[in-house]
Amino acid sequence: MSQVILGDKEYFKGIGKIPFEGKESRNPLAFKYYDPSRVVRGKSMAEHFKFAIAYWHSFCNDGGDPFGSPTKMYPWNTSSDPIQNAKDKMDAAFEFLSKLGVNYFCFHDVDLIDEAPLAEFEKRLDVITDYAMEKMKGTDIKVLWGTANLFSHPRYMNGAATNPDFNTLAYAGAQVKNAIDATIKLGGENYVFWGGREGYMSLLNTDMKKELDNIAQFFHLAKDYARSQRFKGDFFIEPKPAEPSKHQYDYDAATVIGFLREYDLMDDFKLNLEVNHATLANHTMAHEMQVAVNAGLLGSMDANRGDYQNGWDTDQFPVDLYELTEMMLVFLDAGGFQGGGGINFDAKTRRNSTDLTDLFYAHIGGMDAFARSLIIADQIKEHSDYNKLREERYKSFDSAKGLQFKSGQMSLLDLHAHAYSQGEPIQISGRQELFENIINQFI
Ligand code: XUL
Ligand code: CO
Repeated sequence: MSQVILGDKEYFKGIGKIPFEGKESRNPLAFKYYDPSRVVRGKSMAEHFKFAIAYWHSFCNDGGDPFGSPTKMYPWNTSSDPIQNAKDKMDAAFEFLSKLGVNYFCFHDVDLIDEAPLAEFEKRLDVITDYAMEKMKGTDIKVLWGTANLFSHPRYMNGAATNPDFNTLAYAGAQVKNAIDATIKLGGENYVFWGGREGYMSLLNTDMKKELDNIAQFFHLAKDYARSQRFKGDFFIEPKPAEPSKHQYDYDAATVIGFLREYDLMDDFKLNLEVNHATLANHTMAHEMQVAVNAGLLGSMDANRGDYQNGWDTDQFPVDLYELTEMMLVFLDAGGFQGGGGINFDAKTRRNSTDLTDLFYAHIGGMDAFARSLIIADQIKEHSDYNKLREERYKSFDSAKGLQFKSGQMSLLDLHAHAYSQGEPIQISGRQELFENIINQFI
């Protein structure tokens, strides 16, 4: 994307298009590793990643937290007229995207424009999506995914699609219908469900089976509606074990895959995995990705990181090369996303990072960290024994009895006989430290 997209005013004054300058550059507003056209394993970096910005964190979030007031007085959030405010915010978002050179954004319905009673909200959504279409025309800016916020409003305190009350579930249905319409209208490539309140606080007042049956039915209705409107994209479920609910039904990748299988949703739904959510589930992100890859469901990714000392969702920008390299090894092995997803920075600058430039530093850092890790992972695969060492560990299944077992030609009695003839197996080292050293060597 070449041109900078400005509205009536320029919000990020003094910042132009962020260039790629390479690793020797000392310009804090330049990419050191993210070169969108650089080809790694047959695909350009831009194609591999499909980076997206999260509307909510970068343009709506005001820095308020449970202990203090907003700190981010962003100049696009100053109008008391909701329509004007939404347009200003969108101007800022498009200016930011075009300067950063990121082609995608992701949104919740209520990020685009303030919530209102249903009929009024539909009108507002129409106005702001018209405005977005106007702004997108002739540019490379696209929607990676849209979603409905079914967790912030007090009506969802007992859940949305898992609410014990049908009227509330129906309201959530209306919101999802509108969010799907908005996503389709903007040419959105995918649609996400993250169930922040879809879970429970106490089993004493909860019929888990009824709630799961209801949310599955809800997903079917949403999918059927979107398909009837000719939506071709993927639906993603975003696992997270807890927060805000104590127990969330979409706990982790494995749980969601089991759910999708049980309720016959495998053909249309994939996973949108988030790094900090993996951490909260006591998994590594690489683990979550591999679980998804095994099922062919690595749909998309929310990029961020947690905090090693805190037990909550801090949504910081990714910087940890070791963690990212482990992720990129899985990513490259899978051949990239197994659906139409990309990498959405579901991450926010810190509460005390109050300069507009901080939004650039944050995204540049995250994109560079992914780019660098992709290069490292590629180098590891190309120039080290990493693949060979892994394959060697399983070589006993490539011939003789091991191969017979693998091809289903052995019984348990055959295993018994084999063990008798072989005796105690010889000890074979897992050599974890050697694998770890390879990663460090290439970083
Ligand atoms: C919350 C979270 C959400 C989803 C979209 O932890 O990750 O922002 O990505 O609703
Ligand atoms: Co997320």
